[in-house]
Amino acid sequence: MIRDAAPADHAPIRAVLLAAFPTPDEADLVERLRADGDAMVELVIEDAGAIVGHILFSPLPIERAGAITNAAALAPVSVLPSHQHRGLGASLVRAGIDICRACGCAAVVVLGHPAYYPRFGFAPEAAKALDAPFSGQAFMALELVPNALKGGGKVRYARAFGL
Ligand SMILES: CC(C)(COP(=O)(O)OP(=O)(O)OC[C@H]1O[C@@H](n2cnc3c(N)ncnc32)[C@H](O)[C@@H]1OP(=O)(O)O)[C@@H](O)C(=O)NCCC(=O)NCCS
Repeated sequence: MIRDAAPADHAPIRAVLLAAFPTPDEADLVERLRADGDAMVELVIEDAGAIVGHILFSPLPIERAGAITNAAALAPVSVLPSHQHRGLGASLVRAGIDICRACGCAAVVVLGHPAYYPRFGFAPEAAKALDAPFSGQAFMALELVPNALKGGGKVRYARAFGL
């Protein structure tokens, strides 16, 4: 079951993040994003009533010629090691993208493994025109509005990323 994260979930979410990542950096990032009001979309996935996966999207305004395109940054996504390779991560990514689309986001941007995210439609080519702190094959975007990123623009990551 996938649902919105609630305040009572914060401790079990931290446990998932600590188990999934080698350092507490991502767990700390999630807490800073929440504290700043930048947890735009935050979902959990449950198995037998326990939280086993989590995903967060934060606002990513893209500025070009004085206009702003509303996009989202996907980071981080995690699934407990004991529950990986069962499609839970993919379900979280797809559910989150659907909500971002419904919220009017024109695009989603991710810095992630080039072998994982293309299955959801992310491509490095879509992010190429962006003026961002990242580049290369791991920096990918998914346009939810056709050609939303074609003209480029400067991306503004949420403060918690410290970029
Ligand atoms: C990435 C992650 C969320 C995927 O969750 P999941 O539930 O295992 O994902 P799915 O079952 O939907 O997909 C599994 C597929 O993802 C791919 N995959 C998972 N992690 C990957 C990685 N680090 N690099 C490349 N591919 C990866 C594999 O192709 C895998 O396929 P397989 O099952 O045939 O081996 C999970 O592996 C995880 O929590 N990893 C640690 C945290 C992390 O690195 N998060 C992503 C960066 S923000």
